[in-house]
Amino acid sequence: MPFEDKRILKLDREVEGLRLTRSYERSPEGRKVTEEVFDRLTLEVISKLIREGSIAKLDFPVSTGKEGNVFRATAPDGSFVALKIFRVSNSTFKNIARYIEGDPRFSGITGSTRKLIYAWTTKEFKNLCRLEAARVRVPHPIRFLRNVMVMEYIGDEAMAAPQLRSVRLEKPQKVYREVVRFMRRAYQRAGLVHGDLSEYNILMHEGRPYIIDCGQAMMADHPNAQGLLERDIRNINRYFSGLGVRVWGDGTVLRYVKGVRER
Ligand SMILES: Nc1ncnc2c1ncn2[C@@H]1O[C@H](COP(=O)(O)OP(=O)(O)OP(=O)(O)O)[C@@H](O)[C@H]1O
Ligand SMILES: [Mg+2]
Repeated sequence: MPFEDKRILKLDREVEGLRLTRSYERSPEGRKVTEEVFDRLTLEVISKLIREGSIAKLDFPVSTGKEGNVFRATAPDGSFVALKIFRVSNSTFKNIARYIEGDPRFSGITGSTRKLIYAWTTKEFKNLCRLEAARVRVPHPIRFLRNVMVMEYIGDEAMAAPQLRSVRLEKPQKVYREVVRFMRRAYQRAGLVHGDLSEYNILMHEGRPYIIDCGQAMMADHPNAQGLLERDIRNINRYFSGLGVRVWGDGTVLRYVKGVRER
């Protein structure tokens, strides 16, 4: 048996135990997820995370998106963690990959596609570390390996925390002020602009907002940062004013976030 086949067989055995529940796997949605997400490379990463004790098993997908998927997983001590798995290959890429894998003329291409995704995973992890150090409430980053990031799971036994957009807030004014304060801390202490902040990328858990999806966050001196900061502010002001919160003007928030005093 060729070496490669042996390796895959071994891997298959290793991942046997971490399969999603049978009923889920048999459902059409489950089948699609299993096929698309668990490409060979990702299986390797997951089995490594299991061997090293970062996780014990995958529980269920929390979210399946275009670029990646988020799973709840159980750690060996029984606590939950979240796994964000960035897709290494969309189906097109997978089809192409079949033809070009093993062809030395193309080794640079698949290599660099993967490297790009690994770099993106690293970037999100590092952004989370910076933001946490700046006291922005984000899921605590735990580990990253290739295209998989392990972080604190926001939610409880029954389900993952909902996005801000689908929650009825008891104290919207308080949440608004905290989100604006997070933007300020991100900017002033971490030197970061989130760049995709909205009611979709804030989770609400036990009445408190958590900022997520920080892969695209960029340094404040990046040429696009100012424009994206202004867009983040417009998004947040739009959403909270829709809830009846008396929001500050966009310009006032901008000056507050940047620490520019008003005369
Ligand atoms: N740490 C976490 N704990 C619980 N749920 C999470 C966590 N991180 C992400 N999620 C859930 O997964 C969804 C997608 O995560 P995220 O926004 O980081 O990825 P994305 O690349 O933007 O995917 P999408 O395009 O689907 O938004 C979130 O909206 C949220 O519901
Ligand atoms: Mg998102």
